[in-house]
Amino acid sequence: MPITLDAERGVYRLDTPDASLFYVVRDGFLFQAWWGARAGNRELGSYADLLDAVPRSPPMPGCDWSPDSSPLALPCAGSGDVKAAAVRIVFADGTVSARLRFLSAELSEGFPALPDSLGNPLPSLRARDGEKASTLTFTLADTFRKLKAELRLTLIEGHNAIASSVVLTNEGDEPIRVRNLASAAIYLPSGGMDQITLSGSWGRERQPDRQPVRRGLRVIGSDRGFSGHAFNPFTALVTADAGERSGKAWGFSLVWSGDFAISVDTDQFDVSRIVVSSCGTDFSWRLEPGDRLASPQAVLAHAPRGLGDLSRTYHRLYRDNLCVSAFADSPRPVLINNWEGTYFDFDHRRLVSLMDACAGTGIELFVLDDGWFGRRDNDRTSLGDWTCDRKKLPGGLEALAADAQKRDLRFGLWFEPEMISPDSDLYRAHPDWAVTVPDLEPQECRNQLVIDMTREDVRRYLIDSIARVLEGAGVSYVKWDFNRPLTDIFSASLGAERQGEFTRRFMEGTYAVMRELTARFPRVLFEGCASGGGRYDPGMLYFMPQFWTSDDTDARERLRIQWGTSLVYPFSGMSAHVSASPNHQTGRVMPFDFRCAAALTGSFGYELDLTALDTGELSAIAGQVAAWKRRERIVRTGDFWRLKSPFEGNETAWIFVLPDKSEALFCFYREMNAPNPGTGRLSLDGLDPDSPYRVEETETSVGLGLLAGFPAAGALLYGADLMGPGIALPLSRSDWTFAIIRFRRV
Ligand code: GLA
Repeated sequence: MPITLDAERGVYRLDTPDASLFYVVRDGFLFQAWWGARAGNRELGSYADLLDAVPRSPPMPGCDWSPDSSPLALPCAGSGDVKAAAVRIVFADGTVSARLRFLSAELSEGFPALPDSLGNPLPSLRARDGEKASTLTFTLADTFRKLKAELRLTLIEGHNAIASSVVLTNEGDEPIRVRNLASAAIYLPSGGMDQITLSGSWGRERQPDRQPVRRGLRVIGSDRGFSGHAFNPFTALVTADAGERSGKAWGFSLVWSGDFAISVDTDQFDVSRIVVSSCGTDFSWRLEPGDRLASPQAVLAHAPRGLGDLSRTYHRLYRDNLCVSAFADSPRPVLINNWEGTYFDFDHRRLVSLMDACAGTGIELFVLDDGWFGRRDNDRTSLGDWTCDRKKLPGGLEALAADAQKRDLRFGLWFEPEMISPDSDLYRAHPDWAVTVPDLEPQECRNQLVIDMTREDVRRYLIDSIARVLEGAGVSYVKWDFNRPLTDIFSASLGAERQGEFTRRFMEGTYAVMRELTARFPRVLFEGCASGGGRYDPGMLYFMPQFWTSDDTDARERLRIQWGTSLVYPFSGMSAHVSASPNHQTGRVMPFDFRCAAALTGSFGYELDLTALDTGELSAIAGQVAAWKRRERIVRTGDFWRLKSPFEGNETAWIFVLPDKSEALFCFYREMNAPNPGTGRLSLDGLDPDSPYRVEETETSVGLGLLAGFPAAGALLYGADLMGPGIALPLSRSDWTFAIIRFRRV
């Protein structure tokens, strides 16, 4: 039984294959007592003693614990608990103190519904066919404040993670103001531990940042209205010795795409309280009597054997148990996107010449990026006017899609639904649809404003206008972009007392539009994007099986971004394109084959002017596409081991292994060459030690001088040898070299 309880002694236990999480009731309050390595099988009630070892400040009168330092399951502001609060409410009388006491605990099957304020379910994990999910719901209440909170903890058997969320009900007769409602509050003795975050910026997303945990409060998050480039909604606490295969790691990931705050508040006893919340600084939700507010899911994962294990736990969940799209489980088409090839400078003829260049390459999908609508010759105009620009495309999208079809190409389009250009017909007709503060000069960013997704009329307009385009042109792929943060927040549809709800309602509105469009067009592949990977989070991956990983298409930078992204997210969701050299973001010159080898992710394509390639490069594409097709299943569905970090040197290596260990794909990249560097070996991972593997193919870059002993096609090697002594790394004859080996168990 993954969840067991001793109601009499107040001990509750959740077990995943490698970890146990305990809750204990004492003095009428619920405490989280332990989360870490799997506990033994003592009689359940006896685990109540786990709470005795928890350090505490001098006790309060009448209690043998102090809220200052006790691991309350749902710590409320204003009651002597001075650390980051999971629940912060301002009551009608202006005071904040609340005390949530334990009321009951209940076991149920499956994931509980988490409705948002529009009545739609919040993005959430789910159990697949044949899997069993169980939920433990703790009900806590403040009978004086007439407040009820349900802490819901769900696990899917076989997965090393627990989903946590909270539903708050106002049972009083006056409205209350919710300033924070966390998804999880967890305690870890963190002395000597490190915290890892994924931070970055445009063009440099999700770079792992590791720092020692220090006493005091550290908050990472976003007040930008979207999860953003600066911090991903994820953190991990790890023991100081934690590496890819060693040490312990605890992960915290939030299934949400809007504002968030992840607080690590470390006390005088070196115990950290980690509070994961979707509420930004200015969050303020007016909860009417009888109303409920649900927090999104936080996914908590513990790995006793290093960061690699932690990542694989998240990968499996986010690959198999999150995305609702049918494409989540199927190969993605190889695409060509015109953005870096033409930017705004295209017309029907130019696009058709790009399509013509695809002949014989195996490319399957032509994506027309920004610039096809309104009068959009640059980024200063027309967002919101989702009708074809007949000046550029006189035959409309229909004629273009038909031309694609004639060339055996499917047709895809770019949209940026949540935006409006001040210079647009839509804005001229509905200036109040733009998010601006009345009378305050609007703050434009990339010359555009955000459209008010909290409004039903806006959502209806977007659904109708986008659906019309998708139906009219037979579109089979949508790139859903989002290119600026929310600022100057105000909605004419919300009263003054509800403006603090805006960013959450905005996200709910966006999710509602995504929900309807993805459900209505199940055969359209949706890809997320936000100035590159600025909203690369589990909330988006729930609706869209893939996300544009970064606008930085430089292969060297991509290896780093993919490495960092892989800490939480599977390669099945990473979109990567081969782009031009010199690279448009970095100016770096790099061989075509290396650029292609680095783009080997779950969703592969090209983003350059094919007509500008020399014949050698153009003719190489067919081979590259064929190679990707041979490999994509392993990348998309395989488990993933990081072997050599680009952040630590000149080389990157990783391996994908199918879950049944029957096939594997090893990738090795070396950036700069050095004279007479000596040789080295690299141990692989994830294989079946007792089985022989045959090398099905070895692809190496032009500038790689193979060593004798490097596995060539046909070679037979035992898993134990590949993972023990490993393989001899080849020498390079130039910069930018790589080797890719595909193994099959025999
Ligand atoms: C964003 C995206 C790019 C491209 C442009 C178009 O920057 O990240 O891939 O679509 O918008 O304007």
